[in-house]
Amino acid sequence: MKNTDFKALSNHLSGVSRRDFMKYCSIMAVGMGLPVGMGAQIAEAVTKAAKRPPVIWLSAQECTGCSESLLRATHPSLEHLILDLISLDYHETLSTPSGHQAEEARAASIKENKGKFILVVDGSIPLKDNGIYCMIAGKTAVDILKETAKDCAAIISIGSCAAWGGVPSADPNPTEATPVYKIIKDKPVVNIPGCPPNPYNFLSTVLYFVTFGKLPELDNLGRPKFAYSRLIHENCERRPHFDAGRFATAFGDDNHRKGYCLYKLGCKGPETFNNCSTLQFGDTGAGTWPVGIGHPCFGCSEGGVGFHIPLFTKASLHMVTPPDTYPHIAEGQGKGVGASLGGVAVAAAAAGAAYAAVNSVVKKLDNEEKGKK
Ligand code: SF4
Ligand code: SF4
Ligand code: F3S
Repeated sequence: MKNTDFKALSNHLSGVSRRDFMKYCSIMAVGMGLPVGMGAQIAEAVTKAAKRPPVIWLSAQECTGCSESLLRATHPSLEHLILDLISLDYHETLSTPSGHQAEEARAASIKENKGKFILVVDGSIPLKDNGIYCMIAGKTAVDILKETAKDCAAIISIGSCAAWGGVPSADPNPTEATPVYKIIKDKPVVNIPGCPPNPYNFLSTVLYFVTFGKLPELDNLGRPKFAYSRLIHENCERRPHFDAGRFATAFGDDNHRKGYCLYKLGCKGPETFNNCSTLQFGDTGAGTWPVGIGHPCFGCSEGGVGFHIPLFTKASLHMVTPPDTYPHIAEGQGKGVGASLGGVAVAAAAAGAAYAAVNSVVKKLDNEEKGKK
């Protein structure tokens, strides 16, 4: 990017340094499986966009956890990026106007941005008894969804409630909680499941749309492949223990304290697709994700697993044979663990190489800036 572009960038984004912004875009590129150099292209697309993409965010049967998770992302200046990257025209929790004014803002945005705005939905949609179990401003959530979706460019269903039905759809599903894609069938719907989902999977999807003018590649369940193409079990830090047959059998037992595999406590990592084990939560770099802190994955992001299969039920194993980099599960305990850890090291090295590439981009920017002083 030319320096003049960065002047435009600082006008475009409030309180975000050039260095932080490039670092942010480069990390997002790596997270989406794009070459690290694509960070510059993403930054350029955001800078040059004539208008920030308008977003209308609807909430139905939800707990606000998805929005909270987005707001808790602590990457430097992320809150600025959320507010500056998109034009958030309507959000029940974050909008400044309330009541009639908020509803007018939604109607005005639909009118002005016909066919161009992104519709984000969190929460499931109740259909029982004509949808009366979730009403906003005197209208049912299902009517508001249909009315808003009619004119949108695409829909992002954020969180397991909007993507699969989530908590409200657990047996006996008293309100007939229904996911968005089963109601709106004539618009592209991207599912970003998780309870809550990782905020970076949502932000990466929006950035991809801003940069390339299209949605990222999706799997057959409508999830971005960059985030949901691998089982949690494939990249789990406890995987060497699984392969060596070392399991915790009760919460707080010796094996649990030693960090052994949680499969026998009902971990659903072997049947859940998500990037929690590699991306983690909260930007702490301290292993902050369910399995990392000793709780089995309960399959929150997998339709039909989380909220439907009891926590204590053992997961179905789709990949009984471990990857080549791991020892066979039948190997004796204590043997081959070094090789297992080697497998993890390979994955870690790959991730490390990507982040080293990001750091080299940032270093280059710093040097360029120093050279200009
Ligand atoms: Fe809350 Fe989870 Fe539903 Fe998001 S997916 S609204 S965090 S219950
Ligand atoms: Fe990790 Fe769970 Fe797989 Fe064990 S079963 S390796 S804890 S994902
Ligand atoms: Fe959910 Fe399992 Fe990740 S419970 S947050 S998919 S580790």
